[in-house]
Amino acid sequence: MSPISFYKPSVPTNSIHVGLCFSSLHYLQKQELSGQKSRTFANTDDDIFAAAAHEDLVQFLQLRAAEIKSGGTLLACMPAAREDPSNLLCKEAVKNSLVGMIREGKVPASAVSKMRPAVFARKLHQVEAVLADTVDHWEKVACWNDFVGLPGFAKVEAAKQSGDEANHLQASRDWAKACAGWFVSVLGGFLMQAMRVEKFGNEAYDRSSDEDSIEKSILDEWQIRLEQTMLQDARDVEFRLDYVFFCLRRK
Ligand SMILES: C[S@@+](CC[C@H](N)C(=O)[O-])C[C@H]1O[C@@H](n2cnc3c(N)ncnc32)[C@H](O)[C@@H]1O
Repeated sequence: MSPISFYKPSVPTNSIHVGLCFSSLHYLQKQELSGQKSRTFANTDDDIFAAAAHEDLVQFLQLRAAEIKSGGTLLACMPAAREDPSNLLCKEAVKNSLVGMIREGKVPASAVSKMRPAVFARKLHQVEAVLADTVDHWEKVACWNDFVGLPGFAKVEAAKQSGDEANHLQASRDWAKACAGWFVSVLGGFLMQAMRVEKFGNEAYDRSSDEDSIEKSILDEWQIRLEQTMLQDARDVEFRLDYVFFCLRRK
């Protein structure tokens, strides 16, 4: 956790032996880009997101180069651009669960359409290009990408193989619940933020405990709906995200 933006100096110069940064570098510095189409899971090489993502990662590595001692290590991973085709079923389920809530007036469509933080899922070659631009500071130890699944999918596979239908159904339910919990914890904050902006604008306001409980009940309901939708439309589908990893040594 960083108490201030990691696009700023964060710790004293030349003070760190090992730096770790997980699942965060896809957030771009210029959040005003968020009004544009979100590129979390779609990536083209030549748009403003790609250029901003390049500059941001160069800046991040230059800042960390001032903080990490010579011989020190920086390990990072971030969501990347390749799409596992089976993810589309899960994403449809997420969309459909929200559409149900919009139809019933539980969440405003206008807020759902604004759930767009400025994030960019890079391709491996785009990260490699940044490492080439920061070669004065950093020696590349390793840089690769791989798909990372939510943990626990092996249980679903085993239950499926067991031939015991009740056991299989329970495993499918548990899996749908785990996936729904993950999606709502990742996306719920963006939905709540968009709903707050719809209601109060960008000005600071005094939150009441009523608002906390209203938000909690919306998220709880979304999670239950998503569990049901996943069980129905994406049963036993493994959700896997592409990640780029790198390990660098400070020269
Ligand atoms: C997907 S979460 C990952 C959190 C944690 N690193 C982990 O692996 O569980 C991404 C986090 O990055 C934070 N973040 C985004 N942009 C940031 C920035 N410029 N400076 C510091 N934190 C940032 C977000 O607020 C969010 O908490």
